[in-house]
Amino acid sequence: MSVTVQKFMPPQNSNQDPDQNSDVEIIKSNVQSSTLEKMRVVGGNALKGNIKISGAKNATLKHMCAALLTEDPVTLENMPVGLQDVRTLAEVLSHLGTMVGLRSDGVATLHAEAITSHTAPYDLVRKMRASVLVLGPLLARHGVAQVSLPGGCALGARPIDLHIKGLQAMGAEIELEDGYVKAVAPQGKLKGAEITFPLVSVGATENLMMAATLAKGTTILKNAAREPEIVDQGKVLIKMGAKIEGLGTPTITIEGVDKLHGTTHSILPDRIETGTYMCAVGLCGGELRLQNTRTDFLSALISPLHEAGMDIKQEGDDVIVRRNGAKLKGVDIMTEAYPGFATDLQAQFMTMLTLCEGAGMICETIFENRFMHVPELCRMGADISIRGNSAIIRGVEKLKGAEVMATDLRASVALVLAGLVAEGETVINRIYHLDRGYENIVEKLTNVGAQIERVKG
Ligand code: UD1
Repeated sequence: MSVTVQKFMPPQNSNQDPDQNSDVEIIKSNVQSSTLEKMRVVGGNALKGNIKISGAKNATLKHMCAALLTEDPVTLENMPVGLQDVRTLAEVLSHLGTMVGLRSDGVATLHAEAITSHTAPYDLVRKMRASVLVLGPLLARHGVAQVSLPGGCALGARPIDLHIKGLQAMGAEIELEDGYVKAVAPQGKLKGAEITFPLVSVGATENLMMAATLAKGTTILKNAAREPEIVDQGKVLIKMGAKIEGLGTPTITIEGVDKLHGTTHSILPDRIETGTYMCAVGLCGGELRLQNTRTDFLSALISPLHEAGMDIKQEGDDVIVRRNGAKLKGVDIMTEAYPGFATDLQAQFMTMLTLCEGAGMICETIFENRFMHVPELCRMGADISIRGNSAIIRGVEKLKGAEVMATDLRASVALVLAGLVAEGETVINRIYHLDRGYENIVEKLTNVGAQIERVKG
């Protein structure tokens, strides 16, 4: 297999090669979509075959930011290098002085030998909110950071007050000016603090955990998020020399150290991608072998899927997902912080319920404005009514293909799933959202019998 690499070079180090050992050529982004590109799906086929699950996007982005904490190279394996979000963050990191090499075989090297800029500019941050996760590492290692405020987004206001208050508790002086968070650590060093989050936040837990690794003294994070991606991030930091206890529990204790070093880490499988393909089988019927993934981090999804009538089991490193024959029964779910039902699987689960027997109810407790897929599903014949943060989905006989609009990452994939089962042709506009988080989705679905293609806008 020939391996290609895309390089993101910091402006001042462009003579250095992030991947000197491999026989490589520089490739252009293989993300194909433009704002005009559409997806055409013809529904009706059951799914049968194998899909290899990619490394978790939501872990990858944090691990990439962690590379800012050391002057040594960090190597990441099983990395979803084809995702647009990964490329956007690579641009942000290279802007700060990191050499980033993304290889087509899923291995990436990030080398932040020196921080050459402490500003993550609006132009880059606006493309992806997770860029705010450079704030903690920059401040911890460099003592100063300036990151554009991500602003509102399609999922409601999504503030970053918990990140800011936590860093202030660790001694940072922070001002919000000209649309930027401008932060300084007095004498160049953060100090340990006890921080109790008023609500569970994935991003704030990660940002503060990274910041605390190089702080003076001990930091205790209470009511911390417990997502598997955070545990994976903690493992990376520990391999880099950090002292962290309590990962996967609501209390994480971090004892600051003077320096971190480089490491190599293989990223855990993407549980949201895994769950998405499980819902696809629930809708279309058939049998998929989801390779290189796990059931243990998806209990909150698998238990209602079992209740609805699906068959799911772990077989070695693969997961077998089956629905043969009977319609699924309607079930109720509520999104919650991990280990509860993931908000990132809500739209896909709702789409699956559109064809259930009876009715199901979904309560969304994490994000406001996360039912934007509902009007689009209704245009395809679904029967869904919304009251506040709850939706009632009454099963219908069939969905019908239509032209629909993708509004965010998970809403986009929900419309793809609807298209896979709908009668006739569905055309989904604005599919660039999909390329932020689903690697090779057209190829993966085509290989298991779906009729799906990208078309020019
Ligand atoms: C991460 C995930 C996203 C997922 C979400 C919840 C990444 C890149 N993204 O997003 O896919 O849907 O977790 O599982 O990993 N909040 C505040 N103040 C803050 C921070 C958050 O009020 O400072 C609120 C948010 O508006 C939201 C809730 O807390 O209502 C949870 O958000 P959070 O867990 O922080 O989500 P993200 O880290 O942005």
